[in-house]
Amino acid sequence: MTNSIAHPEVGAEFRALRYEPDVVHLDSAAAGRASRNVVARMSEHLEREARVGGYVAHAEAAETLERGRAAAAGLLGFAPHEVFFTESARSALLALVHNMPVEAGSPVCVAPSEFGPNLTVFASFGLRPIPLPVTDRVGHLDYEASAEVIARERPAFVHICVHPSHRGLVQDVARLGAVCRAAGVPLIADAAQSFAHIPPVLGADAVYATSRKWLCGPRGVGVVGVRSGLLPAKELLLESVEANIAGRVGFAVALAEHLTLGPAAVYERLAAIGQVARARLHGAGGWSVSEEVEEPCAVTTLLPPHGWSGRDVQGFREALAAGTAASARIVTTYLGPERAPLEDAPGALRISPHLDVTERHLDVLVAALDSA
Ligand SMILES: Cc1ncc(COP(=O)(O)O)c(C=O)c1O
Repeated sequence: MTNSIAHPEVGAEFRALRYEPDVVHLDSAAAGRASRNVVARMSEHLEREARVGGYVAHAEAAETLERGRAAAAGLLGFAPHEVFFTESARSALLALVHNMPVEAGSPVCVAPSEFGPNLTVFASFGLRPIPLPVTDRVGHLDYEASAEVIARERPAFVHICVHPSHRGLVQDVARLGAVCRAAGVPLIADAAQSFAHIPPVLGADAVYATSRKWLCGPRGVGVVGVRSGLLPAKELLLESVEANIAGRVGFAVALAEHLTLGPAAVYERLAAIGQVARARLHGAGGWSVSEEVEEPCAVTTLLPPHGWSGRDVQGFREALAAGTAASARIVTTYLGPERAPLEDAPGALRISPHLDVTERHLDVLVAALDSA
């Protein structure tokens, strides 16, 4: 597989930058594996903090951090001064909504595949989610019908997961952006799953993401781009001053590595990996793939054989991770219905390989599915 699909050199380079994994890691949608250099630069920064003090070390890292901000800005489609570091995708969303002039009881339009924890954030501000219409069972938005709903409901904003958490599904955010602009309604895009995975989102008024997933930066760092003028006055509340600066340094290094690998090649290879994996995994051991084979992303969602409960899938995921279900430990994610409560999706197993996945990794998984 490594050599037969797009950009094998990018897969080889990605592998060369990293430690040899101790597991078959098919879980980048949860947290990607950082490179050796990301780990080294973060520990160097922590050492500088210990030697010269946190604030002097922070000042020394200023250039690296601003290069990181500029790189993130390019990938999010904003100017560097419109980009803020946060602690996670969720903290970015909380800060955005906190800074927006929204009133409790206002509607917010979302896709039915909206991420459950985001709905909890909306509920905490008293906002009412209104699901937009979709065209198919996978959940692609129907943009014409959505335009009618948006015009009728006049929501405080539209919120879209470019790629949701529980299925390989890529929404056309540029098209939704055009709909929202025509209606004069702001569009906020959650790029937690799409950042450094699929081509950047253009056309949203705010886009937020997280470092640790497809970019393979550290945990505990997020980022948000906000069009100037979207928020009234309190923009400074978006970025905490006191923060894990070593994490932001690691994020900046991961961004630089992504740019060196070549974002266009990364997106193409990840999409091709998803297509190959889905074709390979569909039907194995009676499991079925829930998205379209050709969806342009690396995520495969497997629905269990007839008669399995969500709890069975969860147990199987744990057996894979512990190494008792296959000849190697395989790390995947169990997807419970709480990830997308508006859809009430059944329990499933998420497979999210990165650029260095090989034929052998999928063989090991297929053998485990066959014998489950
Ligand atoms: C679609 C989506 N949005 C938001 C998040 C939250 O990201 P974070 O954990 O960085 O807050 C996730 C995390 O899994 C996600 O999948």
